[in-house]
Amino acid sequence: MTNVAVVGVGQTKFGELWEHSLRDLGVKAAAAALGDAKAEAGIVQSLYIGNMSAGRFLGQEHLGALIADNLGIPHIPAVRCEAACASGSVALRSAYLDIKSGNADAALVVGVEKMTDLANDEVSMTLAAAGDQEWEAGIGLTFAGLYALMARAHMHKFGTTREQLAMVSVQNHSNGKNNPYAQFNMAVTLEDVLNSSVVADPLRLLDCSPITDGAAAALLVSDKLAKQFENPVWILASEQANDAVALHDRKSIVEMQAAKMAAKKAYEKTGLSAKHMDVAEVHDCFSINEIISLEALGFCEPGRGGKFVESGAAALDGEIPVNTTGGLKSIGHPVGATGVRQICDIVRQLRGDSINQIKGAKTGMNLNVGGSGATAVVNILGNELKGA
Ligand code: COA
Repeated sequence: MTNVAVVGVGQTKFGELWEHSLRDLGVKAAAAALGDAKAEAGIVQSLYIGNMSAGRFLGQEHLGALIADNLGIPHIPAVRCEAACASGSVALRSAYLDIKSGNADAALVVGVEKMTDLANDEVSMTLAAAGDQEWEAGIGLTFAGLYALMARAHMHKFGTTREQLAMVSVQNHSNGKNNPYAQFNMAVTLEDVLNSSVVADPLRLLDCSPITDGAAAALLVSDKLAKQFENPVWILASEQANDAVALHDRKSIVEMQAAKMAAKKAYEKTGLSAKHMDVAEVHDCFSINEIISLEALGFCEPGRGGKFVESGAAALDGEIPVNTTGGLKSIGHPVGATGVRQICDIVRQLRGDSINQIKGAKTGMNLNVGGSGATAVVNILGNELKGA
């Protein structure tokens, strides 16, 4: 089977982008990725769109054909992939498998979401549809509410503190200060987080990722084509696992089984482990999720995520720099785009051109989570073809 490389990445600015339509955003990110690869759109043999809910956010469906047409490549197979906030990663994984299977030599992935055209209460209801409609959304549980339940349980079981949750946000806002694509460039202090307004106790405004418009894209190619490109970054593994949608149907609400399983499969496939990673992007949609994600990926023991962050181990100069350009908290979280944006940032780190470059980074991973953990995708990337 062929190997698969990412040879171009690109993204739009993230934020409230009222002057841009969804198709504008998708096309801009795609053009940026093709430009980064120095490739023409004609190279693309299949197109995968990561998008959670353009139908409800904007009344627009059929995004595969729409974006392909607007890119000037209307006749290639093009499809939208949906798995809530993991839509971008399932699109990337579909493109990866398309090439891996020998069906295509070049596939383009575009993650895109335009959320800010709706009022915030309508956005919350739209997002809540990624939970269990009958048992969660229907009784008024938003995603902030679901993650608040997980946070409380984690605090109760492991002694995770309110301050440790806040440290996740402080660190990610600090990492995003110089990110030109980020929705928020301001630094926040521990006091800012602890004094921000309560959204769903114990989570406060500055524990939450914002509501965001934006797009990100990546061009993937086979071994055969990779030789034509400068600095290919190899996808060493792309693994997905799932779990019950409803939180109460899970074995535990203080850990993410799907994320643990996806990571285990990715580690087994590559022969690598957490200790081999030089950099990681994890899904900090709410501060508690970064803590649970660090545990799921094996960077620390179960229950120790809060202490791990507090120790500085996940900082830019720590043992595993996490969310080095700001994470969802600072960059923003256009839900269908986030998984692809994470890949853009890992690729830049492994090529050596990140805004917050980790010296000598050779291997990195991302964890993109859908909903409160019902879908998890883990990718391991390397600037050399090792362990693949
Ligand atoms: N972090 C920092 N600042 C934020 C913010 C966030 N997450 N969300 C909004 N703000 C700021 C706005 O920029 C605005 O600032 P300004 O007054 O200086 O212009 C102010 O807070 C009010 O913004 P508004 O949009 O009215 O906030 P809100 O209270 O309606 O919404 C949240 C805030 C946290 C409830 C909303 O962002 C949210 O629901 N986030 C979670 C999204 C989500 O669930 N994603 C899926 C994850 S699984």
